[in-house]
Amino acid sequence: MTNPTLYTAVAEPDGIQVDAMSDETLLASLEWGGVNWPSSCRGGSCRTCIGKLRSGQVQYSIEWPGLTAEEKAEGYCLPCVAYPRSNVVVEQGW
Ligand code: FES
Repeated sequence: MTNPTLYTAVAEPDGIQVDAMSDETLLASLEWGGVNWPSSCRGGSCRTCIGKLRSGQVQYSIEWPGLTAEEKAEGYCLPCVAYPRSNVVVEQGW
């Protein structure tokens, strides 16, 4: 078991930077950092938390989060089921 890695996440449009551990969801890290990020199901299906990954990489905890292949290709992500795999910049909403 490797130790979790500490990354940073920047939440746009406010530009708030928070600590983002590799073993915590991006949503949890944003919330702990004081970012007011919308959420509902917290399980990757309702899409309330959707955002666009402006930079960086995430890995999903579930096989197929509620995003189409096109949306994924365009960089949309669901922070409630996404774990950071690098420093990330994520923009709220569509
Ligand atoms: S809170 Fe429902 S998909 Fe993220």
